[in-house]
Amino acid sequence: MLFVQEALEQSTHEGVAGYHASLYPAGKLVADLTAGIGADLIALAGRGPALGFELDPVRADYARHNVSVHGLDATVFTADCLEGDWEFEFAIADPARRVDGRRTLDPSEFEPDPVLLAERFVNLRMGVMKLSPLLPDDILTSLGVGLEFVSFGGECREALVFAGSEAPHGRSAVHVGSGERLTSSDAPVGASEPAAYLFDCDPALVRAHAVGTLCSRHGLAPLGDSIGYLTGPDLVKSPWLRSYRIRYSGKGDAKTTKRALRDLDARVFEVKQRGVKADPARLMKELAYGGSTPLSLALWTDGPSVRHLLLEAV
Ligand SMILES: C[S@@+](CC[C@H](N)C(=O)[O-])C[C@H]1O[C@@H](n2cnc3c(N)ncnc32)[C@H](O)[C@@H]1O
Repeated sequence: MLFVQEALEQSTHEGVAGYHASLYPAGKLVADLTAGIGADLIALAGRGPALGFELDPVRADYARHNVSVHGLDATVFTADCLEGDWEFEFAIADPARRVDGRRTLDPSEFEPDPVLLAERFVNLRMGVMKLSPLLPDDILTSLGVGLEFVSFGGECREALVFAGSEAPHGRSAVHVGSGERLTSSDAPVGASEPAAYLFDCDPALVRAHAVGTLCSRHGLAPLGDSIGYLTGPDLVKSPWLRSYRIRYSGKGDAKTTKRALRDLDARVFEVKQRGVKADPARLMKELAYGGSTPLSLALWTDGPSVRHLLLEAV
């Protein structure tokens, strides 16, 4: 394959590109409006008829090359995707989020302009726009009817905005590895004390406001005010959760937690925090104790008070 560094850095991971391609009906032509060096286009061409647009002639050439070295076929036009009529009913766009080499979170600086894309997507059967999950909800929802937050490799990689007559509506999180999708719902009331297990939620689930859906499914409750920590009496295995047995729960005081470490013959190898701004390096120093069992220290909040948990991954 051939790469341009900046375009490679912005390209979609193969696993996520495969997910994007799976969103379209079999056998239908899909246009990649922002082909870059072709990561999404390769996945689209692997599933069926595909074509691409790319403004930059070098990237367009590389996209053609990269598609062909995969033994696939897709026409790539060196052109502005917003010019001319669209002779296709399905499209994907991944607007560039860099200006002069620096990242921007201002959608009016993205290229092509998401607002102009959204105006044309309404006339398609389905247009999908890949955007940063860091953009505020009101901007994302103004661009389409459906919104999906994509989890891949334990990260919330992107927000996908859906528009067009066949676009899915509503808000959800999708876990690419397992294919699970959870729709958003209200979060249940938080527990002020932890039960036997702590669960660390996938960031895409939190971003999609879908934590409540997972809680109802597994009988879990959010822990205190710390968005993203859940607790429950039984072990739950889910692609959305990292699960821990709680070995110690106490106030947020390093001396007391150090005593607990001694009692457990344990040491802290990582500090996890949600909604707390502590200095993990300082805490690790304060808690220095070389017990034999490696545990995670989790900081969580209930109102103004910070609390400590010692956790064993299960
Ligand atoms: C984020 S990259 C796309 C990466 C691509 N999805 C991939 O996986 O390789 C965005 C690309 O859109 C191109 N672009 C920007 N404005 C465009 C326009 N109006 N028409 C076509 N391409 C455009 C940029 O040159 C850049 O290569």
